[in-house]
Amino acid sequence: MSLSHLATTTISNPTISGNHLRRPKTNTCGSVRLSNRTPHTSCELNQKNQEPTTHNGGIDRRNVLLGLGGIYGTTATIANNAVGAPMVPPDLATCHLATDDESKEKIKCCPPYSTANIVDFKPPSSSEPLRVRKAAHKYNSDDIAKFETAIAKMKALPSDDPWSFSQQATIHCTFCNGAFDQLNTKTLLQIHGSWFFLPWHRYYLYFWEKILGKLIGDETFAIPFWNWDTPKGMYLPKMYQTSGSPLEDTTRNKDHYTSVIDYKYNMGDPNPSTPAAIDEVVTRNLAEIDSIFKETLQLPSLFMGKAQRGGEKPAEAQGRNEALHNVFHQWVGPLQTPFHNMGNFATAGRDPVFYGHHGNVDRMWDIYSKLRGQKVEFRDPDWLDSSFIFYDENRQVVKVKVKDCLTPESLRYSYSPEALAWTTIRRKYKKLQNAAQTRSAGDSLKLKPVSEFGWKPRNLTEPIQVLVQRPKTSRTKDEKADSVEVLFIDGIQIPHGSTARFDVYVTKPIEGLVGPHNGELAGSFVKVPHAHHGSSNGAAHTHTSSLELGISTLLEEIDAESSQKLVVSLIPRNGDVIVGGVQIRLVDVDDDDL
Ligand code: C2O
Repeated sequence: MSLSHLATTTISNPTISGNHLRRPKTNTCGSVRLSNRTPHTSCELNQKNQEPTTHNGGIDRRNVLLGLGGIYGTTATIANNAVGAPMVPPDLATCHLATDDESKEKIKCCPPYSTANIVDFKPPSSSEPLRVRKAAHKYNSDDIAKFETAIAKMKALPSDDPWSFSQQATIHCTFCNGAFDQLNTKTLLQIHGSWFFLPWHRYYLYFWEKILGKLIGDETFAIPFWNWDTPKGMYLPKMYQTSGSPLEDTTRNKDHYTSVIDYKYNMGDPNPSTPAAIDEVVTRNLAEIDSIFKETLQLPSLFMGKAQRGGEKPAEAQGRNEALHNVFHQWVGPLQTPFHNMGNFATAGRDPVFYGHHGNVDRMWDIYSKLRGQKVEFRDPDWLDSSFIFYDENRQVVKVKVKDCLTPESLRYSYSPEALAWTTIRRKYKKLQNAAQTRSAGDSLKLKPVSEFGWKPRNLTEPIQVLVQRPKTSRTKDEKADSVEVLFIDGIQIPHGSTARFDVYVTKPIEGLVGPHNGELAGSFVKVPHAHHGSSNGAAHTHTSSLELGISTLLEEIDAESSQKLVVSLIPRNGDVIVGGVQIRLVDVDDDDL
C-alpha cells in the first residue's frame, strides 16, 4: 500500500463513505472542480459547511443526521422513519395504484394480499441439491419441454394466485412503478438504478425458479439463462420464438427474431446484415463486456450501481451491468410507445424471456464477484442489511436480506460454466479499431478546436465534444491500485416516461484539437421507462440521473497516460437529454487492509 496517493487529488468513494469499517485516509478531500457545477464530496461538505446534497440533488439525510450529532454506522430513526439506514420492506397495507410512466396510465400492481405474516427468509442449507442453470441456446428438446411445462402450469393458475405467471410478472411493476412508497415516507420505492438492482433481481428469479420447480414437483429444476455474452448466444434464443409455446410473447419486435443483437442498438436501428457487419458487431459486443469488467473491478458501484439508503429518493445511478441490460429490454420490446412488454419496466415481467435475460444479468454479477475473489462488493451495512419481501415457494411472505444472496451458491444454484469469449477478443477488436482510425486519419482538415463543457447544462440535441482536465497524469501502479480514474456525467435530465440513450467516447486531443474519430467507447447511458420520484403525483416532469464510467484501462489502451486533457464525446442516440457537467475525478478504492 503506497502513500503516493497523498499527493493526488482524490475523493472518497460515495458508495462507501459512511462505512465505519473503512480505513480513514488522510487526504481524501482535495477534489478538483472542473466543469461541473455541484461538488458532491462529503469532504467538501465538512469543509464548507454548505447544504449537503446527494449526487441527484436530494438531501443526504446521513449528513443531516451528522449535523444533528448522529454517528455513522448507527441506525437513526426520525418519526418512525429510518433514514440513512438499510432499506426496509414497505407496509403492505399502503399499496396504491402504480404509474405506467410511458402511457401515463394508473395501473394496478399491488400484490394479491394486503396483510401477511412476514417471516425471515432462511437461506437453503448447503446439503440441498445445487440447481444448475444452463444456457438457453443449448437447451435440448427435453430441457425445453420441461421448462414449457413449468411455465404452462404457472400460466394456468388463477390470476389472483401469487404464484400465477401474471402475479409473478406484476411483482416487477410493484417495485418499479411506484405501487409502494418506502416505509412511513412519501418517497418512492424503486429497486432499479442503484446497488439494489442486482440483489433484488437475484431474489426475484430465485423465487420464480423455486415456484416453477414446485409446480412440476422437481426440486432440482433450474431456469435457463440467455447467454448473450457469447457469439452463439447473441440471438433471441429460439425456444422463446416458437409460436403457440408458453415461452412466446407476441408483443416483441419480430425484426429481431433472427438478427444478432448489437449492444449499441438504438430503437429502430436496422439489423446488421452482411457477414462482415455481423462479425464486427459481435467483436464490438465482446470487447464491451471485456471493458465493463476491466473498468469496474476495483470499484463495485461502477458495475452494480450507486448507493441508495433507506428513506432516500431513488439514486438513478445505474452501473454498467444495468445500462447494458437496458439495451436488451429495448431490443426485444416493440418500437411503439408504450413499449409493452419488454421495453417498459411496468410490463417487462410478462415476457418469459425477461427471466432468461435476467439470468445472464445475474450471471454477470456472479462472474464479477468471482473475478474479485468474492470480496464483498459493499461492506456497508446499509446495503448488506437492506431487505425486500417475496412470496415464496411455500406460500409464505418472506423477508430477504441482501447479505444472504451474495453468491448463487448461497442460494443453492449455479451457472453451468461457459467459455468466456470476451476474455480473448482484445487483439481482434484492436485491429478493427485501428482500421477505423486509419480510415479517418490523415485528414488534417478535419481537426477541429474543442472547448471545455462550461458551467451551463447543455442540450444533447447534437454530439457534444468537450475537453476535460484530468486530476493527475502518468499515475504509478500503486496510485492506480489506490484510486480509480472515473468520468462523471452529472445532472442528466430526462423527461419522465421516455426512453433515452447516449454513448460516451474518450480520445486524446491532438495539440488541443480533435480529430474525426471519437475514440474509445467508455460506456453508455440507457433508459427504459420506469417510475421516478414525483412521477406519480405530477410533481416533476423530468428526473435527474448520473453516470460514472471507469476509464483507467481505456487510457492505457489509447496510450493517453500522459495527456493532461482528454476529449470526451457525448453522442445522442435517443430521447431528450440535458447534461449538467462532465468531469474526471479519482475515486478511492475500498481497501481491505484494515
Ligand atoms: Cu427490473 Cu430488466 O429490469
